[in-house]
Amino acid sequence: MNRRYRKTIIAGNWKMNKTASETKKFAEELKAVMPKAKWCEVVVCVPAVNIQTAIKAFKDMRVSVGAENLFYEKSGAYTGEVSGDMLKDLGVKYVIIGHSERRQYFGETDVTVNKKVHAALEAGLHPIICVGESLEQREMGITMELVALQVKAALSGVSAEKVRKCVIAYEPVWAIGTGKTATAEQAAEVCTLIRTTIRHLYGARIARSVTIQYGGSMKPANAAELLAQPDIDGGLIGGAALKSGEFVDIINAANQE
Ligand code: 13P
Repeated sequence: MNRRYRKTIIAGNWKMNKTASETKKFAEELKAVMPKAKWCEVVVCVPAVNIQTAIKAFKDMRVSVGAENLFYEKSGAYTGEVSGDMLKDLGVKYVIIGHSERRQYFGETDVTVNKKVHAALEAGLHPIICVGESLEQREMGITMELVALQVKAALSGVSAEKVRKCVIAYEPVWAIGTGKTATAEQAAEVCTLIRTTIRHLYGARIARSVTIQYGGSMKPANAAELLAQPDIDGGLIGGAALKSGEFVDIINAANQE
């Protein structure tokens, strides 16, 4: 973390979990344990159908609500899709883009990720752009090239002014939902590379202002060590974000002065 230059953001990615009633219950539980003062921003990214409930439930807790996806067109005949304007109008602040599960199961590519980043920024949302290598790619030794390419592709055509509104999440695919966390060194190495890539594209001043998160089996037991790395400015948390106790423990790990 480096709070002098950029925000620390702890974000939950609920994926396809929790009903609207469970969303309300989680918010009540979280409220009971949430620290009064926060030195980090807390975000919950919830399924689209739970957004309205979440906005209401988290309102007085200073927890921002995020979406897990959007479509890149503004409106039209795209059955089942949700636009950036629709999310913004509900009060959504962040939107996850290019999560590896969407790349794996729903055919998202670096090209569609780039289109979605532009659509999110256009709608006034903050994209949380996910990048990361698979186990095969790590074993092939191409992690750094691959992640740099994903970052460049996602930000293609994005202005310097707009890139400050983006968050990048480094999520090694082999660490997601597996209980296998990247070591702090592995995570730090790639997060530093991401910042270097942004520096080459936009210069040092912009690069140091961008929040870079780590995601992949982040939990109370490993959060403090990951967050102690200077280029890791927060977490994108799956499983542990579904339990209020674990989520708040991670928030507390990021809340150290
Ligand atoms: P887990 O924390 O469950 O490994 O999920 C990470 C993730 O995919 C967050 O987007």
